[in-house]
Amino acid sequence: MAKERTLSIIKPDAVEKRYTGKIIDHLLREGFDILAMQQIHLTTAQAEGFYAVHRERGFFRELVTFMTRSPVVVLVLEAENAIQKYRDVIGATDPAQAAEGTIRKLYGTSKGENAMHGSDSPENAAVEIGYFFPGYVIAPRS
Ligand code: RTP
Ligand code: MG
Repeated sequence: MAKERTLSIIKPDAVEKRYTGKIIDHLLREGFDILAMQQIHLTTAQAEGFYAVHRERGFFRELVTFMTRSPVVVLVLEAENAIQKYRDVIGATDPAQAAEGTIRKLYGTSKGENAMHGSDSPENAAVEIGYFFPGYVIAPRS
């Protein structure tokens, strides 16, 4: 399995509750390397663009309002099989359904306010990394 990169977002609910440090520690202990990281307060246009695939869904406006409520922390993570590994580490979308020990189980509140975002495919990871780190050249690791 080759090294992959994925885009991670620590969502407003988790940043507000000051879980940023615990979550970053969790990710590092799971073996992810952090290639880039920034804390930003998303504009409505940025959140709408990022979640454009969900614009026809009933929860879209609620999602955009939530994601723009307060700052998020955006990270580029690298690991072997990073995309699936990361989704395993964060757990199911609904924290109530997430496995014990996953980040959403530990720190999420509800299906909407679920502490974390993660890319769902290599193609989307590349798009999402470019969305938040445009033109940023991340040196390949040996
Ligand atoms: P994400 O994209 O944030 O990593 O989450 P995901 O793949 O597990 O879930 P997805 O279906 O892509 O949904 C994106 C985000 O929308 C919010 N959501 N709310 N209220 C609801 O029924 C509902 N469903 C989804 C969540 O914040 C979810 O992470
Ligand atoms: Mg998703």
